[in-house]
Amino acid sequence: MPSSTHDNFPSTPGKVKMERSNYFGRVASRWHSTASARLLGCSALLLAFALVVLFRVSSSGFADGGYFSNNGVLTFKPTLMWEKQVRQSCLPTRGDNPMVVLVTGAAGFVGTHVSLALKKRGDGVVGIDNFNSYYEISLKRARQEHLATHGVFVIEADINNALLLKSLFEMVQITHVMHLAAQAGVRYAMENPGSYVHSNIAGLVNLFEICKAANPQPAIVWASSSSVYGLNTKVPFSEVDRTDQPASLYAATKKAGEEIAHTYNHIYGLSITGLRFFTVYGPWGRPDMAYFSFTRDILKGKPINIYQGANNKDLARDFTYIDDIVKGCVASLDTAERSTGSGGKKTGPAQLRIFNLGNTSPVTVPTLVDILEKYLNMKAIRNIVKMPRNGDVPFTHANVSSAQTQLNYKPITDLDTGLKKFVKWYLSYYGDNTHHHSGLVNQEPII
Ligand SMILES: NC(=O)c1ccc[n+]([C@@H]2O[C@H](COP(=O)([O-])OP(=O)(O)OC[C@H]3O[C@@H](n4cnc5c(N)ncnc54)[C@H](O)[C@@H]3O)[C@@H](O)[C@H]2O)c1
Repeated sequence: MPSSTHDNFPSTPGKVKMERSNYFGRVASRWHSTASARLLGCSALLLAFALVVLFRVSSSGFADGGYFSNNGVLTFKPTLMWEKQVRQSCLPTRGDNPMVVLVTGAAGFVGTHVSLALKKRGDGVVGIDNFNSYYEISLKRARQEHLATHGVFVIEADINNALLLKSLFEMVQITHVMHLAAQAGVRYAMENPGSYVHSNIAGLVNLFEICKAANPQPAIVWASSSSVYGLNTKVPFSEVDRTDQPASLYAATKKAGEEIAHTYNHIYGLSITGLRFFTVYGPWGRPDMAYFSFTRDILKGKPINIYQGANNKDLARDFTYIDDIVKGCVASLDTAERSTGSGGKKTGPAQLRIFNLGNTSPVTVPTLVDILEKYLNMKAIRNIVKMPRNGDVPFTHANVSSAQTQLNYKPITDLDTGLKKFVKWYLSYYGDNTHHHSGLVNQEPII
């Protein structure tokens, strides 16, 4: 226990003066050391703050802004530089009814391609991504740089950041939201279930809340997944089939997202289109997916695990090339009707749609490996293993007739053509001496 100042005074008066001067000397020196300690503490804090700012500056190109209390209400106030980048990125260059689209998950695989397609045809586009470390961050940064060279700015933030999103919607009139940010992957859910709830449930609700309050409300197109068909055995999968038997937490969060979308459409008049993608692949793809990690391992001479289902049946997927998916996304945005809410209230019924976006011709995993071998000009070392029960399903097959009639969606790229383009990109991005790490811990690829 520290003694009080008074307790430190000596009891003999003769000694008092000397003791006092000693005392004051001690106090002064203690004050000095406390002051210098404080000064040191403050400097350390300042230095830490400066480092944080510097880190943000160097990681995102510049600092984005800060959070201030305005009459007790916390708001996000962007820097002038950030605001300028956002406005520029959102500026359309075509005259005929352009859109201004917020693309969430823009530094992701599909987000990058959709952002580019929209920007190239003259729409205003701004992206948002939290650059999480689910897979190699350097690939997300490379996509961000690629987008920047085409005039698309990607904000580094989480979709749960309501203050930043609110400020963004006040700054620019966003007409459409292409919502692709999510925790993807089936098996990672057993390692980190919270990340699925954070991005696919909480993040989705936060985004819908912002959209519902925006004036005017944007129309929303978002990525659900073919995984909602879960344990269905009736093929091909159609939008009217049951989706109440998810085989993974990922699938369950996507299914929950579809129900949440229904609620926001019903109560607030948000125009919402959900897209059930079927195994998307292509250049700038996701390193956690089988075609990607097979390529890496074949080049390294490492064995690959090829799963088989019950009765030694090969797994099959309705692999869909990225350009076909992008066309489906853009067509969904183009045909999306306006939201009908205003000031957070619905004024009439709003559009609610759900579409399968697949390729309609499933291919087995061994055939996928055959094609990779052909374009890599190398033989794979194949380990045939029984599929573990970890959330994967034995096959997927899309019925896309609904997207065909309503979106004019027609997938045109077969797996051979698509993988040829992927391998070409892969070799130009990594070279054939691939020593990059996937950023995943103990992860098996997702088929
Ligand atoms: N690629 C496929 O085969 C496939 C199949 C079905 C559905 N989907 C869905 O399509 C969408 C895009 O998938 P992808 O393959 O491009 O995946 P991806 O992981 O490459 O892209 C998602 C991006 O979202 C970002 N993100 C995640 N959580 C976020 C958050 N809370 N805030 C901000 N950003 C966040 C990630 O950093 C990532 O860059 C996802 O919703 C995914 O579930 C993809």
